[in-house]
Amino acid sequence: MKTVKRNILLNPGPATTTDTVKNAMVVPDICPRELEFGELTLSVRDDLIKVARGEKNHTCVLLTSSGTGGVEACLTSVIPMDKKVLIVNNGAYGERMQAICDAYGIAHVDYNIPAGKPVDLAELEKMIQAHQKDLSHVAFIHHETTVGILNPLKEICSLAHKYKLENIVDAMSSFAGMDIDVERDEVDYLVSSSNKCIQGMAGISFVIARLENLKKTSSIKRNFYFNLMANYEYLNKNKQFLFTPPVQTLYALRQAVTEYFQEGAENRFARYASMYEVMKKRVKELGFEFLVEEKHHAKLLTAILDPKSPNYSFNEMHDYLFERGFTIYPGKVGSINTFRLSNIGAIYPADIEAFLKVFEEYLRLKKII
Ligand SMILES: Cc1ncc(COP(=O)(O)O)c(C=O)c1O
Repeated sequence: MKTVKRNILLNPGPATTTDTVKNAMVVPDICPRELEFGELTLSVRDDLIKVARGEKNHTCVLLTSSGTGGVEACLTSVIPMDKKVLIVNNGAYGERMQAICDAYGIAHVDYNIPAGKPVDLAELEKMIQAHQKDLSHVAFIHHETTVGILNPLKEICSLAHKYKLENIVDAMSSFAGMDIDVERDEVDYLVSSSNKCIQGMAGISFVIARLENLKKTSSIKRNFYFNLMANYEYLNKNKQFLFTPPVQTLYALRQAVTEYFQEGAENRFARYASMYEVMKKRVKELGFEFLVEEKHHAKLLTAILDPKSPNYSFNEMHDYLFERGFTIYPGKVGSINTFRLSNIGAIYPADIEAFLKVFEEYLRLKKII
């Protein structure tokens, strides 16, 4: 097996992968219409349903795209032509859902909250009540990666159901990184991608869909490549992606899902959470403040307010860390500047300790602290 230089990615995905996932992509060329590849495809699909604990009532539609494609597929495939979607927006990805709807002429009611602030469920309920007759869906981001806030999954999903509405959850950066059970949490549609907490390579998005709901979408004609029902039916019938799949990315995803089960869901969630705890504690000790109140942290990414020191420059800090194998991520929310540290992917507590040492070394060298 080829070993590859290890970079510690603290950006929120594509995340660091294991060498075994990287090497899984080196396979003999294969036509994706071959049965062998079809079986691989179905095994990945079925295992993603298991990760979401959706074996009872859900299926999974695999698409060739980044995560945004999965969100676009879902919004454009399931909202009836004469209905509206209520979009909860407390960050860039909520805003992106609104932009997708605008691009397709899908009417939406916006529950806009300043980025980084939590959802007020009573306010949301009032808004649903006010628009109930026009609405068919409530859509929101589970972990709003722009700021690291966790929106309440089960509460919002069941609130939608209380008013006979379906829900759409963008769980891009939380799926496989924290406890999600689509049955228990009442999720109808959950969207995620191959390169975040599931620890695969970029190139596949997927929608875990309640089959009963999905089957009601056949008459909605708004898209082509991204039509969920068409993609579902083709895969189900032919054991093949509807269009050319990213062959090697699927092999990597197969390996990544196997490694998820080998590690164990609980162990993965605990590993991520423990890295967050260590990082949060040290960053606080160094005098930094967070954008989001701690009780709303998803524990998968932390947005940290830029230090006030005139010696601080994100780009310089990034380059210093990058040269030493650590990648950090900028983050601007309105007029507030932050930098973001994520703790997802095939990284471990020792990597976080090593990062914190170099981070502190830089801050002292530049007299930022
Ligand atoms: C919550 C959320 N939604 C959507 C996306 C968009 O995914 P992509 O950049 O793969 O299109 C991201 C990416 O980080 C995300 O975190």
